[in-house]
Amino acid sequence: MKLWEGRFDAPTAADADAFNESLSFDKKLWRADITASVAHVTMLGKSGILTEEESETIRAGLHAIYEDIERGALVIQGAEDIHSFVENELVARVGQVGKKLHTARSRNDQVATDMRLYVRASADKAMALIKDLIGALLARAKESVGYVMPGFTHLRKAQPINCAQYFNAYSEMFLRDLDRFAALRKRMNVMPLGSAALAGTSWPIDREVTRTLLGFDEMSQNSLDAVSDRDFVAEYLFAASLAMAHLSRLCEDTILYTSDEFGYWNIPDAYSTGSSIMPQKKNPDICELVRGKTGRAYGHLMGILTTIKGIPLAYNKDMQEDKEPFFDTEKTLFDCLSIYTAIVRTLTLNVNAMFEAAGGGYATATDVADYLAKRGIPFRDAHAVTGKLVRYCIEKGKTLPSLSLEEFRAASPVFEADILKTVTTRASAEGRNSVGGSSTEAAKAGIASIKKRLKKYPV
Ligand code: ARG
Repeated sequence: MKLWEGRFDAPTAADADAFNESLSFDKKLWRADITASVAHVTMLGKSGILTEEESETIRAGLHAIYEDIERGALVIQGAEDIHSFVENELVARVGQVGKKLHTARSRNDQVATDMRLYVRASADKAMALIKDLIGALLARAKESVGYVMPGFTHLRKAQPINCAQYFNAYSEMFLRDLDRFAALRKRMNVMPLGSAALAGTSWPIDREVTRTLLGFDEMSQNSLDAVSDRDFVAEYLFAASLAMAHLSRLCEDTILYTSDEFGYWNIPDAYSTGSSIMPQKKNPDICELVRGKTGRAYGHLMGILTTIKGIPLAYNKDMQEDKEPFFDTEKTLFDCLSIYTAIVRTLTLNVNAMFEAAGGGYATATDVADYLAKRGIPFRDAHAVTGKLVRYCIEKGKTLPSLSLEEFRAASPVFEADILKTVTTRASAEGRNSVGGSSTEAAKAGIASIKKRLKKYPV
């Protein structure tokens, strides 16, 4: 039965029904819908809009529906949307009194409330998964404080870095994601219920009762805005998109670093795939898929922004289009965070290969220039002297650490014996002791700082 058929002479066409329906996807909201209805009907009883007995009958009916769906005894089907489904089922179970549930309420404030309850829980889950991922990155960082690896700019070896500093860099990104979810969760925790269709209601409702029951921090202060605000969906999709961007960068590093050409890490067999034709192949499909799925999240973000941009006040059916992009993004984000946490936990690091690679590409040239500059040579001149030394190495097929003191002194008399220590891979990484830098001390401080900030976000 349609909730609105009283005004109509003829039934809607089958294709119109199929086009209009949302049950096929909004059935995911069933828990939120019943929870919100239980709160609403409790409030109706307390405010004297329904008798306590009516309220209790409806509440018991809703609880029974909840339990039946939960244990698979009731299948969600055969209605326009989840709100109609629950109400039809309620009336079938408790009789005429069930029709009083929708007093002082509209599907417009109902769906806005359901969506907020759902997205709020989803933000909590996203935060828990991001925390898991940061936990995995922290464990890798702890294990690698003594390891040196190449740091890149323009994908050319730039300077040796601490492997822990590398993992910490991703923790920093995901900490910001965590903070974004926490912030949007706080901002969205405002209850629209009680706004009714658009203008509020003449019934003597007590919104404070429903607000408390549903765990909202505040109640909305404008009914027109409350029924038509989907900012929180857009914010969630943005936070998810940026988290996916960070995951995608980590995927790209993983794909490069596990290639034969780099050989810094290995993905274990359990998270690798093969080729149907090339027997030798071990492919990073999972990383590629996470990188690829980032496009889905971005697409959904653009979708919701475009959907909401031209909607006149207040509710319009366009808003039904918030759900599928949201559900798909949520699943994508959760799947990608979970699988990548497993990959981070199980990667193996080729410590020697990373160290060897870190010494290539004249990666300690900045240390040579800094050495001169610290002894009074203007940095620009020190840069030029070092550039010439690099050219000398290229011509002679040498590396900077392999040069003799005489070769250094031929380039500048300022060099003393200690340049030979300064120019090594490890000394280079260890020398950068600035906050957030590549020294062991700085990397350890980075770990401690991440752990401390992580504690701010209870799961
Ligand atoms: N399925 C609808 C949605 O997602 C529910 C609200 C319907 N409201 C209405 N006035 N037709 O937005």
